[in-house]
Amino acid sequence: MSTPSIPTLQLPTGTPIPQFGFGTYKVTEGVYEAVSHALSVGYRHIDTAQMYGNEAEVGRAIADSRIPRQDLFITSKLNNGNHEPSDARSSFDRTLADLRTDYVDLFLIHWPMPLRYNGDVALPWPVLEEFYDQGRARAIGLSNYEPEHIDAVLDIARITPHVLQIEAHPFFANNQTRHYARQLGMVTEAWSPLARGRAASDPTLSEIGNAYGVSAAQVALRWAIQRGDVVFPKSVTPSRQERNLDVFSFELSAADIARIDALDEGEEGRTGSHPRTLNRI
Ligand SMILES: NC(=O)c1ccc[n+]([C@@H]2O[C@H](COP(=O)([O-])OP(=O)(O)OC[C@H]3O[C@@H](n4cnc5c(N)ncnc54)[C@H](OP(=O)(O)O)[C@@H]3O)[C@@H](O)[C@H]2O)c1
Repeated sequence: MSTPSIPTLQLPTGTPIPQFGFGTYKVTEGVYEAVSHALSVGYRHIDTAQMYGNEAEVGRAIADSRIPRQDLFITSKLNNGNHEPSDARSSFDRTLADLRTDYVDLFLIHWPMPLRYNGDVALPWPVLEEFYDQGRARAIGLSNYEPEHIDAVLDIARITPHVLQIEAHPFFANNQTRHYARQLGMVTEAWSPLARGRAASDPTLSEIGNAYGVSAAQVALRWAIQRGDVVFPKSVTPSRQERNLDVFSFELSAADIARIDALDEGEEGRTGSHPRTLNRI
């Protein structure tokens, strides 16, 4: 099978980031098979996290793929219980060892955890800056940070975060936080771009897809791409992995983009936890 060419965006570091990748949240069984298949059909960007408990299997699939390291973009994230600097350092060493690499392309603080660590949501940031200085994280950023949490990081930062990864899909466009990050120059990544599967059976997205000969899931992914976000849908199903990747052969019209924008339900559409209240270690 020929592998599709995936567009890149430019990080503030000057390095490219593939705009499309493979998500691994809740891939706990069959990790090796799922990641191996994704790599074999052309995915080159893998999103994992310490929390997902699958870094070692992701690392094994990457190693066995024999794809040159420089052709891959690998992201991981600091777990919620590892914000103290010594824990951040030791857990990052383990992440690199499990992923069988000397560096990740992007390392994020997974959640701000404002109800822990005396409310200091910036606590691990200087350690991420250290990883960046050492070249062991080629870019660093935040995940699930609301504007006030980003401000707290900026107050102590030497390096402005390069990326913000947040929940965003047609039912929860999350525009205020997206725009806040963008005006600071950060690249935005949209997690759960299929709203954890809901988008695949949405009647409006299906109807729009019919006109282009694509599925509702492809429409949701293409909408995110045209908004300029990075996406990494998760699927353990080989045929879905392949179809999801096929979002560069069509372009949604402005009218269809407006119809999808109108599906935004605000907070009602959120599928995950709220960053201000998540308190799980
Ligand atoms: N930073 C964070 O806090 C955070 C939080 C959540 C997610 N993420 C990242 O974002 C990635 C994507 O989000 P997500 O995994 O939550 O959800 P998602 O990608 O929006 O949706 C995944 C679900 O959709 C199904 N699916 C995939 N393609 C489909 C298709 N073409 N048709 C129908 N159903 C389809 C999958 O089923 P099958 O697997 O059974 O095919 C799975 O149940 C994660 O894997 C993770 O890397 C980050």
